[in-house]
Amino acid sequence: MALSLRKIACIGAGYVGGPTMAVIADRCPDIDVTVLDLNAERIAAWNSEDLPVYEPGLAEVVSRARGRNLRFVGQAEGAAYVAAADAVFISVNTPTKTEGEGAGKASDLRYVESCARFIAAHATGHTIVIEKSTMPVRAADCVKSILATARPGVTFDILSNPEFLAEGTAIRDLEQPDRVLIGGERPESIAALAEIYRRWVPAERILSTGLWSAELSKLVANAFLAQRVSSINSISALCEVTGADVEEVAAVVGADSRIGPKFLRASVGFGGSCFQKDLLSLIYISESYGLTEVAAYWQQVVDLNQWQKRRFADLIAAPIADGAGSLRGRRIAILGFAFKKDTNDVRETPAIDVCRRLLARGATLAVHDYRVTPESVRSELGALGVEVAATPEAALAGADGVAVLTEWSAYATLDWARLAGRLKVGAVIHDGRNILDAAAVRRAGLTLRSIGRGAQPNA
Ligand SMILES: NC(=O)c1ccc[n+]([C@@H]2O[C@H](COP(=O)([O-])OP(=O)(O)OC[C@H]3O[C@@H](n4cnc5c(N)ncnc54)[C@H](O)[C@@H]3O)[C@@H](O)[C@H]2O)c1
Repeated sequence: MALSLRKIACIGAGYVGGPTMAVIADRCPDIDVTVLDLNAERIAAWNSEDLPVYEPGLAEVVSRARGRNLRFVGQAEGAAYVAAADAVFISVNTPTKTEGEGAGKASDLRYVESCARFIAAHATGHTIVIEKSTMPVRAADCVKSILATARPGVTFDILSNPEFLAEGTAIRDLEQPDRVLIGGERPESIAALAEIYRRWVPAERILSTGLWSAELSKLVANAFLAQRVSSINSISALCEVTGADVEEVAAVVGADSRIGPKFLRASVGFGGSCFQKDLLSLIYISESYGLTEVAAYWQQVVDLNQWQKRRFADLIAAPIADGAGSLRGRRIAILGFAFKKDTNDVRETPAIDVCRRLLARGATLAVHDYRVTPESVRSELGALGVEVAATPEAALAGADGVAVLTEWSAYATLDWARLAGRLKVGAVIHDGRNILDAAAVRRAGLTLRSIGRGAQPNA
């Protein structure tokens, strides 16, 4: 008889587990979905009107399903739901290791391992364990060996179902994915999970591979995306010194259908919890198989990104530093702190590195963001020399320089004619996302520096 998944549980109620399970519950009212997490505060927030994750459309999806076939529970309460589940997703964080072998590069699998132990302790009958977290290739071996310690009579099958959603567009990406990937060894398990996605995803978009290909594909997909950002960012520096315009170059290059136009926006650099972590994981895996050249190739994508952030901070400092290079007494308005628009996530946001570099040189910062809380800003930057502004206007007051670090749409339409008077005379606007209306900024008598376009003097 074909396997049918009627009850599912998901361990990890983060940026991936919460939205992914909410969409599954929304699309499959007959499937009972439980999301559990160690973090009681996060679970309380998922059960409130103030969700812990900001994503356009998420609140609506949650409000349709929560209390019907979607619940968020703490770890202790979750054990019974794991016991009853036909399938358990593991959607916990897999950060870069900070200590031990592979520190600074390898993925830290301790949270995944503790989920595997929890599942081994509580599962009953036959349970499909689904890796939703991004894992190093062959991590399923480690999960399998932990599950092998379960009580006699309890059996498992493992699938890899990595998530490709992007923060800021998570709900759209989940509702209309380019592809859903299911890697596994047993066709009946793959078919059972595919049957869930088939409720709203066309069959041709559900790809099935072996376990190792699925695990590796997720790392490679992120590596390729990050590589495009570093590629265009490397060209942005070349544009600035040659007088070419990176937007024009990107448009021409992207018009080649073999290359395509997406992910060719020059910027202050990529951020987010995944790109760097997944690149480092790929680098570590390559090194551990002795593939030094492969590791060095991908390392350069990371290095270029770090360089772009430093380069951007130094461009902000250059016109306002004193003879000794100090920014003491200089106030810089930071517009945007999230790693991209439409999210409140600040993990690995380029704003952290840019701001820290400016603070280290003595600058005072006035930081504005539409969704990031003052606590998040302060936990990354500390309080010394950091003011969190409630509006862009407040951040700009008395600023010697301005840096746009997140591409929030509202920044693109700021009224520079009205705002120019708030800035110190001679203040330069540095557009780290190339979203400002260059002509409007210039008409307001301001100097704009865009990434990959060099200096644009006042009209
Ligand atoms: N954030 C993204 O855009 C994104 C996209 C695709 C894939 N991923 C991958 O998905 C995974 C999860 O990412 P995230 O951004 O949702 O992370 P997150 O940090 O937002 O959420 C992880 C959650 O897991 C919980 N947790 C950790 N160990 C636990 C345990 N043993 N039992 C119960 N709960 C536990 C944490 O408390 C946390 O709430 C990672 O592997 C990540 O690489 C993330």
